[in-house]
Amino acid sequence: MFTAPSASSAIRAALFTLLTFGALTACTAPAERAPGVGEAADEASIDDADEDTVARATPAAYAHGDPHSAARPDQIAIRHLTLDLTADFDAQVLRGRASLTLDRRDPSADVLHLDTRDLDIVRVRLDDASDDAPYTLDPPDPRLGRALHVPVGPDVEIVHVDYATRPEAAALQWLTPAQADSEAPFLFSQSQAILARTWVPCQDTPAVRMTYDATVRVPPGLLAVMSAENPVAPTADGVYTFRMPQAIPSYLLAIAAGDLRFQSMGARTGVYAGPKVVEMAAWEFAETEAMIEQTEALYGPYRWGRFDVLVLPPSFPFGGMENPRLTFATPTILARDRSLVALIAHELAHSWSGNLVTNATWDDFWLNEGFTVYLERRIMEAVKGGPYAEMLAQLGMQDLRATVADLDADGQRRDTWLHLNLAGRDPDDGMTDVAYEKGYFLLRALEEAVGRERFDVWLQGYFDRYAFQSLDTATFVDDLRTHLLADTPAAEAVDIDAWIYGPGLPPQTPRVASAAFAQVDAARTRWLESEAIAPTGVPWDDWSTHERLHFLRGLPDAIDAARMAALDATFTLSDTGNSELRHAWLHHVIRNDYAPGYPSLEAFLGGMGRRKFVAPLFERLVETPAGLARAQALYARFRPGYHAVTQGTVDALLASASADSE
Ligand code: BES
Ligand code: ZN
Repeated sequence: MFTAPSASSAIRAALFTLLTFGALTACTAPAERAPGVGEAADEASIDDADEDTVARATPAAYAHGDPHSAARPDQIAIRHLTLDLTADFDAQVLRGRASLTLDRRDPSADVLHLDTRDLDIVRVRLDDASDDAPYTLDPPDPRLGRALHVPVGPDVEIVHVDYATRPEAAALQWLTPAQADSEAPFLFSQSQAILARTWVPCQDTPAVRMTYDATVRVPPGLLAVMSAENPVAPTADGVYTFRMPQAIPSYLLAIAAGDLRFQSMGARTGVYAGPKVVEMAAWEFAETEAMIEQTEALYGPYRWGRFDVLVLPPSFPFGGMENPRLTFATPTILARDRSLVALIAHELAHSWSGNLVTNATWDDFWLNEGFTVYLERRIMEAVKGGPYAEMLAQLGMQDLRATVADLDADGQRRDTWLHLNLAGRDPDDGMTDVAYEKGYFLLRALEEAVGRERFDVWLQGYFDRYAFQSLDTATFVDDLRTHLLADTPAAEAVDIDAWIYGPGLPPQTPRVASAAFAQVDAARTRWLESEAIAPTGVPWDDWSTHERLHFLRGLPDAIDAARMAALDATFTLSDTGNSELRHAWLHHVIRNDYAPGYPSLEAFLGGMGRRKFVAPLFERLVETPAGLARAQALYARFRPGYHAVTQGTVDALLASASADSE
């Protein structure tokens, strides 16, 4: 995708030309919609939406306790957003209007405080008045942007903000047809954690929930989609309307547009992707409906109507993003053998943990991600069996131990608490494996202490008690003590405070023991301790992706050139189209300066922009002076193709490595 002149085209073909978009064909059909379960309920207007789906007041304790937002939802909260936006691909700008419906919580409040960053505010109007209303903008903060203050008299109900985004809007990536490997350009957003404010003026805190509707205009022929009810085919005029009848926090606002096709997978599931990928993706994700059914059986109904997956161009900076009704996913999970679909289970799980019950601030991020990893593994256990889920848990434990060791080594021990303290910092700093995996292991420790049955009853109740609300860690602890631990003496074995308000891994951390991985360990040891150069005795062909990954991760740091060559030849590692295996292998390539592997590294870094792969590989490169030079040269070429989220991380990493080397 990115213009990488010297990247090996064979390797790029294997991994990413499947992402090529076909010719752009304008279609004259009116916007059709995919059928949704609960369609009738969804047809109701937003005003009479199910009681249950309407935002409930956020507890006062954290109503204005979000250090990353200027909003004061304890005074005035936004309860509905209407967007009218035109996408100008030439200027790389979204232009239009955000109309915000106010929910007055403090009758004496007379100013609406909004978050914006890199927005050009054209004018503000109140209700039906045609004249401009006064407003002020604070000086910009590089991360938080500029607070927008709008005086609002006691009767004002709607604030209209006319504005335009800038090409550098950090949430948005505007891809040229060449970058999108398509005849059409492509646009997508990534709002989490605090980037919604770079494309919509809003109360950009997860403590506020709003319904929304939108009119979006894109060049005819392109299909536009959002985290809302979606069309399944392009309109003749490129105008689309959207409705999101359930109240969501701003970080779940999402938009994409490009030469997209829709393919149905089941009654309430489907895939949006480029024409060359869509069929393959629908095959890859065919287990989605079964995953939804299993999750519903465990934790109650799926409350969002449809669950569709949008496969993005390879520069999408995350593995997946749980945008409601339309999960955004990286194409790097298209392994052609369904081996990386735990990511779909993960994003689906967010429909309960995160989208339904939401962290109140980014300090409580583990409430989103730890719960989601727990659900993800329960879903995978239900769909693929216990041994499969245990492999995932063991890989998670490896990640967690490595992250805790790194944070400790960097003097960042505070970041190994579950409850974070991110005031004055980028919320991104808290998005580590601690939230995901330490969070998971706390829930697993509780499950093991009280028994699965009781634990599931509590968890299902938790989703009901806090549905469509945001909660903080203290509220979670109260709920846990009241509804689970009160009459379960066995649970005292789990020191909740040590897990949440303390560093590292507490002594009662559950043991993970995958029997399959024990066999992998044995096979690896046999090979390493033998005289054999080639790993011919290793039963690679019998192994799943996860066993292969465990094998690669467990190899020693130093591997001689002959054995590197033998590994590469026997298991075709440099050419593998499985992104997880490719990533694990490339760490060995760099560590061992294995020259024949560099074209593969280059093709990989130039072929996708998923931060989880890009950043660790650059980090590995900068460990040596020669590697630093290589990193700088590669990054100079590939940076323009990366999304701002990935750019931000790698910019910082290379700046600090370059400074250290001087
Ligand atoms: N919500 C996250 C992605 C995210 C987190 C974006 C924080 C911005 C800030 C998403 O659900 C996620 O966790 N994605 C993971 C995949 C998952 C299987 C662990 C990813 O992108 O790697
Ligand atoms: Zn997640």
